[in-house]
Amino acid sequence: MSRRSHSRSPSPRALKRTKIDHLTSEDFKNGIFLAPMVRSGALPTRLFALKHGATLVWGPEMVDKAILHAERVVDPVTGVISYNGKSRAMFTTHPIEKPYLIYQIGSSDPELAVQAARVVMQDVSGIDLNCGCPKPFSTHAGMGAALLTNPDLLCAILTALRAAMPPEITVSAKIRLLPSQEDTLKLVERIVNTGISALTVHCRTRAMRERDAALVDRLKEIVDFVEGMGRGIAVIENGDCTGAEDAKRVRDLTGAHSVMIARAAESNPSCFAPVPLIDVERTLSPAYLRVAKYLDNNWGLTKFCVSQFKGKHVGMDKAAQKHYRQVLNGTKGYDGLEEIVGSWTGEQDFQELVEVIETRPPRLHDLSAGGSEPSDASITPPQLVTPSETTNPEPPSSGAPLMLALHRMDLPMLTGGDPLTPSPAGGVSMAPA
Ligand SMILES: Cc1cc2nc3c(=O)[nH]c(=O)nc-3n(C[C@H](O)[C@H](O)[C@H](O)COP(=O)(O)O)c2cc1C
Repeated sequence: MSRRSHSRSPSPRALKRTKIDHLTSEDFKNGIFLAPMVRSGALPTRLFALKHGATLVWGPEMVDKAILHAERVVDPVTGVISYNGKSRAMFTTHPIEKPYLIYQIGSSDPELAVQAARVVMQDVSGIDLNCGCPKPFSTHAGMGAALLTNPDLLCAILTALRAAMPPEITVSAKIRLLPSQEDTLKLVERIVNTGISALTVHCRTRAMRERDAALVDRLKEIVDFVEGMGRGIAVIENGDCTGAEDAKRVRDLTGAHSVMIARAAESNPSCFAPVPLIDVERTLSPAYLRVAKYLDNNWGLTKFCVSQFKGKHVGMDKAAQKHYRQVLNGTKGYDGLEEIVGSWTGEQDFQELVEVIETRPPRLHDLSAGGSEPSDASITPPQLVTPSETTNPEPPSSGAPLMLALHRMDLPMLTGGDPLTPSPAGGVSMAPA
């Protein structure tokens, strides 16, 4: 499954880290969060989001059954923790992200949800229930957005999770709006009464597509309603936020305690910084590729994530961009990337990530408290444009053909990059992620 031998003991790095004891509702306030994203929310993306100021990060949805029989293995070199299924890793994480990591479950069964949460709870800080995925693979099984119209089951799952999890593990939910505001408020009331710590509202209805503008105007009343319940629960806005600067606008408009970002972060994981990286393919992709290689992240997954990065080109002409695309598209693994990744090793980049994440204040309650300043901070922030037709892919489940699809995938159009100093790059074999 991986090029490295594995140990069952945590790495020394893993043992060193315990900055935040555990999360509470307060930690879901005044934040800017990386949304759960199947495929795009891979481990390196979460780490770069944290580096650049994401307050908390959600892992990609995992269907409850998919993780139940996974074997937990720890890479003794990097500390990466993999939950391995029969042929591939279902979920990978690293102890450095644990204080900030929310694990999202897809479920339609309280008992299975609890079992799945128990499998991973030692490596995460919170469990989130996906109640918003509108895709048939979720809704056919009664999961995702199907739960919105089955509030008894939805609340039974949350209640069971809250009862089963120790207090240091938060339980939260991510919902969509119902067509009527009145029904939404009724549902929200029931959900809040289950004892969750935070509620994310994706401000679209089940029928709405990502290209439809999020109905953020409806959120203010929901926030006021939840505040009126007096339980101190955080309401998180999700939908169409483009970055740290925009998050202020969204919060002013909605009164939401925090904002969660998906597609803008998929395009640029540094969008959480007050001044995000601009020339993403030049400034972020090389480091991303090096870290991904060091962490033994599945190559197909890495290639997919890098292919989603988009930014303005500042220091690259068309020929350099074309060359960059050719190198990325042409390689079948990390070995062919010498021209892009430069002379740094992934270990150096990873150490830098670790240092930035470890030196974050324990609790970030201020939207202005972004991560490290990006290297081209002097340049005007990009106008990030939310792609209109990004699809929400299928989460890993026992039968999902995710990895096959990834291995077959060619890179879609990359918008540029920079051929940096060539250097020898060590070989890395693929480990499914
Ligand atoms: C590639 C991709 C994968 C997604 N996977 C998930 C997921 O696993 N769980 C979930 O609740 N929502 C998922 N979503 C939905 C997002 O979390 C978010 O609700 C939606 O994209 C709206 O936010 P945005 O306007 O910031 O993109 C996904 C979206 C995208 C684009």
